[in-house]
Amino acid sequence: MLLSRRLIAVLALACACSAFAAAQQPSDPETERKIDALLMQMTLEEKIGQLTQFAGKNPQNIEMIKQGKVGSLLGVLGAQDSNEVQRVAVEKSRLKIPLILGYDVIHGYRTIFPVPLASAGSFDMPLIEQAERVAAKESTAAGVKWVFAPMVDIARDPRWGRVVEGAGEDPYLGSMIAAAKVRGFQGKSIADPESVVACVKHYVAYGAVEGGRDYNTVDISEQLLREVYLPPFHAAVDAGVGTLMSAFQDLNGVPASANHHTLTDILRGEWKFDGFVVSDWGATHELIAHGVATNDAQAALESLTAGVDMDMVDGAYINNIPELVNSNKLPIAVVDEAVRRVLRVKFKAGLFEHPYADADREKTDFLTPENREVARKLAFESMVLLQNKNDVLPLSRKQTVAVIGPLANDKSSQLGPWAGNGQAADAVTPLDAFRQKMGSDHVLYAKGVDIPPFENGLAAGVAAPAPPSATGVKNFQTENKPASIPDAVEAAKKADVVLLFVGELAGMTGEASSRSTLDFPGDQMKLIDAVVATKKPVVLVIESGRPLDIRWAADKVSGIVQAWFLGVEAGNAIAHTLLGDASPSGHLAISWPRSVGEIPTYYNHKNTGRPSAPDRWHTGYLDQSAAPLYPFGYGLTYTKFSYSNLKVESPKISANGTLRVTADIQNTGKREGTEVVQFYVHDRVAPTSRPVRELKGFERVTLAPGEQKTVEFSVKVNDLGSYDPEMHWIVPRSTYDVWVAPDSASGIQGTFEVE
Ligand code: BGC
Repeated sequence: MLLSRRLIAVLALACACSAFAAAQQPSDPETERKIDALLMQMTLEEKIGQLTQFAGKNPQNIEMIKQGKVGSLLGVLGAQDSNEVQRVAVEKSRLKIPLILGYDVIHGYRTIFPVPLASAGSFDMPLIEQAERVAAKESTAAGVKWVFAPMVDIARDPRWGRVVEGAGEDPYLGSMIAAAKVRGFQGKSIADPESVVACVKHYVAYGAVEGGRDYNTVDISEQLLREVYLPPFHAAVDAGVGTLMSAFQDLNGVPASANHHTLTDILRGEWKFDGFVVSDWGATHELIAHGVATNDAQAALESLTAGVDMDMVDGAYINNIPELVNSNKLPIAVVDEAVRRVLRVKFKAGLFEHPYADADREKTDFLTPENREVARKLAFESMVLLQNKNDVLPLSRKQTVAVIGPLANDKSSQLGPWAGNGQAADAVTPLDAFRQKMGSDHVLYAKGVDIPPFENGLAAGVAAPAPPSATGVKNFQTENKPASIPDAVEAAKKADVVLLFVGELAGMTGEASSRSTLDFPGDQMKLIDAVVATKKPVVLVIESGRPLDIRWAADKVSGIVQAWFLGVEAGNAIAHTLLGDASPSGHLAISWPRSVGEIPTYYNHKNTGRPSAPDRWHTGYLDQSAAPLYPFGYGLTYTKFSYSNLKVESPKISANGTLRVTADIQNTGKREGTEVVQFYVHDRVAPTSRPVRELKGFERVTLAPGEQKTVEFSVKVNDLGSYDPEMHWIVPRSTYDVWVAPDSASGIQGTFEVE
């Protein structure tokens, strides 16, 4: 049984290789010749070495590099250490093939930007690209030439801790962001000393883990895979991404790291990807636990033949592939093809010419004022104003504010869960920023409560409490005093308005940080209730990596701001916005559920045969609305916008035409503001049921009070199609609805027909 499965895998691969060879059109024959020359000289072990990645700089890894048995290390940071390991490869190994050194740069290397779920809400592609350019520059200064980013997993389940690492729930927005991030990381050329090779991850459908439980099973239709989960990866490949990372979880029964269909048929066959694929951490070895391999040898065989070229940290390739080849269980052509892909990226990245980091750049390139400025701007554009009753915001500098809550002065949590090489000390907290901008006399502070780790141990890695600040003139609670709710109440009573910084510690989101509820951990609700009872106006500022359950908030507090984890400039961006130096413009990149029970909640759901209606016999719940509390795309500002005059240029259009839709957007308020104008489409009749809306365009528009602008969306009709049940892309002849809208649940509507 085992042997025959293995044989089938090998035979399937042999076919795939020839198909790939035909599809592949190496752009640079000179590089391919250099690779041929190297392959001729390489021993089998040296070849597998190129397919092997280990972690860290340690004597064992150094020895293996010398022997040519390692092609990559991860987590070696700093010019000195990275140059030291590189020198071993380039000067002491027989063939002098440079290493490619990788690291997770998810939202910045040293200058930490907002977490990706937050920055997605800026809908600002040039700025997102610019932030990754900064991250690339800082990473390469530290000897990191390869980043395990962007993470582009679509996620519809905020229980999943890794929802924070991606761009939210929408495949169109996710694709635009995937491409922008690849452009930012890789620049004009990955050979540029200030560019990194990007690694789009986790291929594929990791965001669909059942129950939001990390690493769990995924079983979804091919249509859902193609229409929702694959598009951001495809966009990254089209943008020229150098590498992909295969995911941990199984996909329709076949683990993503042994999935020939996705790794070879689609990635190589359909998309013509010519870079390399690295497994996620230990994912090859985990094929045993998945129950598709009996041992590492079989796991290595399955993983490599499926299309995973490099094996991350578990040694399964280097320890087993030589024997698999020597015993004719694996054709050497398969190994050669994988080595070719790895070497191609190393050549394209200029590693053979410039293997070393320039140590001087470490002194000048980190956390510069310009880098901080990009972080501040992106942080400002990422936060979302959800509620602003009685115009409680913006605040006036004449007011006295009580800054209350466990996150108000927590430096580590400002950075977020996967903060590269960020340092907590670099972060500006909200408390720091309000004191600085308003003067300490106008700012009272009380922590109120601590956020304890979860009892079942999942909070391992939760950040340590921030060091006490040196400032603090008028504190009801000095930063060293234990947190106390009475102190918080006391501060609230003395203030004109309360800013309540509550949410999650950064370490409560991210990998292996799934949650079964969306509650505020610890005693934060007690703190909130006690502060609300003072009857002072309260602005809830939520710092979290996922939407939390705030059904109760609309009636209790005046303002609600979703601040996510905004990075090193978090405090400055929050104070800047709350004090009205500019109007907030962030919009939600994920639907905000009312309660955990309605998850998954996503705007692009199907209509069903019984769409929501006031009577009982329709899709929904008896005990609550099935609509999200706040829809995807939602976000307020300090002014108001009106939408009017929607025009469809060609009400009847052919499938190969270009649809043009315009609408007038006017700022009807008293302040300048930026609106994210969104464009949605719905195909009324198709062979498969279609989502009620799909985002197909957006534009950020800044308008002075009274100003009006006509916004135009121009979309190829072919891009509005869908897969038929046989997985052919079609553009059904049908009536389509279009909306130009401030969010996914409202807007002005029109129609057109595809003839
Ligand atoms: C994560 C990846 C990450 C890798 C290397 C894994 O645990 O799933 O996202 O790139 O570790 O750090």
